[in-house]
Amino acid sequence: EKAGYKHFMAKEIAEQPVVIADALRHYTTRDGAINLPESLDFSTVDRVTLVACGTAHYACHVAKYWFEQIAGLPADIDIASEFRYREPPLLPGAVAIFVSQSGETADTLAALRYAKGKVGKVLSVVNVPTSSIARESDLALPILAGVEVGVASTKAFTCQLTVLALLALKAGRDRGRLGPDELAQHLNGLRALPGLMNHALGLSGDVARIAEDLARSEDVLFLGRGAMYPLALEGALKLKEISYIHAEGYASGELKHGPIALIDDTVPVIVLAPRDALFDKTVSNMQEVMARHGRVLLVSDATGLAEAGAGVWRGLALPECPSLFAPILYAVPAQLLAYHTAIAKGTDVDQPRNLAKSVTVE
Ligand code: M6R
Repeated sequence: EKAGYKHFMAKEIAEQPVVIADALRHYTTRDGAINLPESLDFSTVDRVTLVACGTAHYACHVAKYWFEQIAGLPADIDIASEFRYREPPLLPGAVAIFVSQSGETADTLAALRYAKGKVGKVLSVVNVPTSSIARESDLALPILAGVEVGVASTKAFTCQLTVLALLALKAGRDRGRLGPDELAQHLNGLRALPGLMNHALGLSGDVARIAEDLARSEDVLFLGRGAMYPLALEGALKLKEISYIHAEGYASGELKHGPIALIDDTVPVIVLAPRDALFDKTVSNMQEVMARHGRVLLVSDATGLAEAGAGVWRGLALPECPSLFAPILYAVPAQLLAYHTAIAKGTDVDQPRNLAKSVTVE
């Protein structure tokens, strides 16, 4: 069932171009329109609240940037275990979105039950359409990733992002923020992703060589700005889950507010920097790291590496990509880095210690 791969995680990373293309086909029409239920109308919604745990929470965190930027819609994110006990005030003008691969995560289910009846609509974005979270929501949107076996979530994350991106685009359209041309352009951007991800998967050998060195580190930092900040958090989570190396993700701009104290020549710093409007800012943070002898791995595109790559420890060149959806593409090198580092360390990639695939008790 591993289809020739050594691990489920490797298979699931490799499947991403196919499952994302499936999800895009499912949620768009042949003539290029968004195919989401019209009963889900964002024109009268005044707030979106996104709640989940772990990797699914980081998908929500990326989606916050999308709802705000694309649809001008205020978006809150929360960790389900905090949300459920904080019992935040919720208003009928809000839509609450619960994201879960398994659809059985205890905290996320409890958070959903708390929100029900208080917000206008309870929506779930799930991989298992028969799950408790899907059944108890007003509307469940399957992410169509197929069964995910590896404890480290990979293809579910990028499929969650794909569905959340389509929701943000629908919200932008419903609220008159996106005209037909702009919408078509964004949908074309999403449709380009499977091809770009295939290209990123081709970097696996390069990543494996970098991972040989990463495997000897005790601490690793991930940095990103804008929607790449949650990707930095996700990259760090993936690395700690399966390689047991201590890793932290930070917003690049937070560096000088504390974490820069950790930098020396033993700490690899992975900088996720697509060439977007914030590229120069991220590069200047990266240079602050290099000035303190930090070993920088710059993940960007070829132009980004040519412009800013002088003096970095290692570089990874991804294909150019519409900057709005870069988090979906940049998830691939983050996953590959974790995978190959775990392989180099000889840990159990699919069944990491202390972790369960589905966390059905709090
Ligand atoms: O099934 P869920 O998406 O609700 O699970 C949430 C988290 O437990 C899960 O994403 C976890 O963080 C993964 N092991 C991350 O790789």
